[in-house]
Amino acid sequence: MSLCHLDGNDLPLAEARLSPLDRGFLFGDGAYEVIPAYSRRPFRLAEHLARLENTLEALRLPNPHPAAAWAEIIARVIAGNPWEDQSVYLQVTRGADRVRRHAFPVPTRPTVFLMSEPLPLPGQTQLDNGVSAVSAADYRWLRCDLKTVALLANCLLRQQAVEAGCAETLLFRDGFLTEGAASNIFAVRAGVLLAPPRNALLLPGITRDLILELAASHGMPHEVRAISETEVRTADELWMTSSTKEVLPIVTLDGQPIGDGRPGELARRMHGWYRDFRDAETRRG
Ligand code: PDD
Repeated sequence: MSLCHLDGNDLPLAEARLSPLDRGFLFGDGAYEVIPAYSRRPFRLAEHLARLENTLEALRLPNPHPAAAWAEIIARVIAGNPWEDQSVYLQVTRGADRVRRHAFPVPTRPTVFLMSEPLPLPGQTQLDNGVSAVSAADYRWLRCDLKTVALLANCLLRQQAVEAGCAETLLFRDGFLTEGAASNIFAVRAGVLLAPPRNALLLPGITRDLILELAASHGMPHEVRAISETEVRTADELWMTSSTKEVLPIVTLDGQPIGDGRPGELARRMHGWYRDFRDAETRRG
């Protein structure tokens, strides 16, 4: 039985109860984070908490905890669960009102919920073979930089990939790559790593930012710029990145091979740097 945290209490997940008037349930009115923990140590915690703060500020939801208190709650949730490597889920909603209405409750009492699951990292076979992706028009709202729990469009778009036997759906808006349904996307062309710029149309991924830092510190040529759909389809490599997938090569898009249809050399290198960095920060011994 896994341990969770709900509004100040640590309790078994199966015993957690919420009001059906909670605005997370009624309106998708809330923020969330997914924080990976390796050897029970949260990775890039400060960056995740800073992004949470940004989302909460944009949603006009006061942050219920300072960073130190978040770190304590996260540490308790990790300690209360059996896995060495975990994916910690954290959610803050605008709480429950007495009636269903769009306007904010006064006063607002946010609901704070955390749980943890085993970290579902890609296996060696997936890393060695890469994964397939499909593409779709990005019809999400215009604040995709916010990590809100209102993920219906992302769920519908990811389901398209699942039903096509693929791992991810790449999203294009006005002829340019934004991101994946639940990941950021990188392209490699002529030895240069390309990432779309941070803007309101995609999530500023914690993994994405670390990959750009690692590219800079290891001298891998890289460029942050808009990437056209044609450039994506004719790339030498495509990667999907996220806190739970790390760096995963995409080898076909809509049934067409990317590059030679095998995971590329730059992906292999970056994955190694990513794991070395992660292990140096988190693994014991
Ligand atoms: N999703 N873009 C979207 C739309 C995402 O949902 C995610 C992550 C990312 C990658 O962000 P990060 O590197 O910070 O994990 C990009 C998480 C894992 C999820 O919703 O489960």
